[in-house]
Amino acid sequence: MTDTIAVIPGDGIGGEVLPAAVEVLEALDLDLEFVEGEAGDHVKEERGEALPQETYDLAAEADATLFGAAGETAADVILPLREAVDSFANVRPARAYPGVDAVKPETDLVFVRENTEGVYAGIEDDLTDDVTTLTRLITESASRRIAEFGFEYAEENGFEDVTVAHKANVMQKTDGKFLAACEAVAAEGGHEFDDALMDALAMHLIMHPEDYGVVICPNLAGDMLSDLAAGLVGGLGLLPSANVGPDNALFEPVHGSAPDIAGEGVANPSAMILSAALLCDHLGYDDSAARVRAAVETVLEDGPRTPDLGGDAGTEDVTRAVVDAL
Ligand code: NAI
Ligand code: MG
Repeated sequence: MTDTIAVIPGDGIGGEVLPAAVEVLEALDLDLEFVEGEAGDHVKEERGEALPQETYDLAAEADATLFGAAGETAADVILPLREAVDSFANVRPARAYPGVDAVKPETDLVFVRENTEGVYAGIEDDLTDDVTTLTRLITESASRRIAEFGFEYAEENGFEDVTVAHKANVMQKTDGKFLAACEAVAAEGGHEFDDALMDALAMHLIMHPEDYGVVICPNLAGDMLSDLAAGLVGGLGLLPSANVGPDNALFEPVHGSAPDIAGEGVANPSAMILSAALLCDHLGYDDSAARVRAAVETVLEDGPRTPDLGGDAGTEDVTRAVVDAL
């Protein structure tokens, strides 16, 4: 049966790397139909809203979505889109590749980030001209759900070490609840894990990333620690992500619209293409996912490489090389 894939390029390099991922998927000869939707800064300028209802509906109704990146309107675009696919888990693998100059070549870990609440729940208020507040939302149900997902993900993908990041010593009620939910789920399922205070974890990740496998995080901590891990493996051009819900999912690179290099045709398409590999996994095309990853690895090792990895090739050169390596 044909799977409908919503493709939403967005702004800046989103419009350059998303076609690369589609080109790779098309080369696999799968039964996919691509339907394009608009979103981002340029749509806000033209139509007054960054995420038109029809784009939201497109993602909600598709079998899966590929998203590039948005610019200044990112929060107005990607947060509702993650909600459109009902995604509660944000999965962000960070691994170093042979041939890429990584700060820590031994890095091979996956962040499983709670995707719906924490400080990104959008509960902010102006109380007076001087005072603003933000409410940090943590529920037992969402914490249990991300813990269950994280332990299962670790088991299915062969990771022995599971770490729960938190700051329950300070945020005693909210992260206390998050940690307690992880402990309960672990006890019920017979899983083992270490817990780590997220600030100390940031330091330890830089010094000893090899100590970590799956890291289960509240929302903001997962956002920040995954960018930190991108720095360990060679930059944001390499990190894909999956936003996973019960039936639907959205796949996007961890990076943004990169205005500093947008329009130059030199964005690294690897993160976006690896996101397409995660989409193949999700749709059950396991062989295709493995082929895409192997092709990206071959090109990362042998070149051509984009400037962020020390090369002088363009996005299209790398994409063509990946397609050839398939
Ligand atoms: P960014 O991820 O766009 O860029 C950070 C740095 O990494 C830049 O120097 C950029 O050139 C480099 N970089 C990122 N992706 C790259 C790639 N594929 N190849 C080569 N180099 C790459 O983050 P930044 O600069 O903080 O934000 C820029 C804009 O993107 C902002 O307007 C922000 O709101 C938006 N943004 C959107 C996100 C989304 O749509 N999910 C996520 C993060 C930021
Ligand atoms: Mg981020």
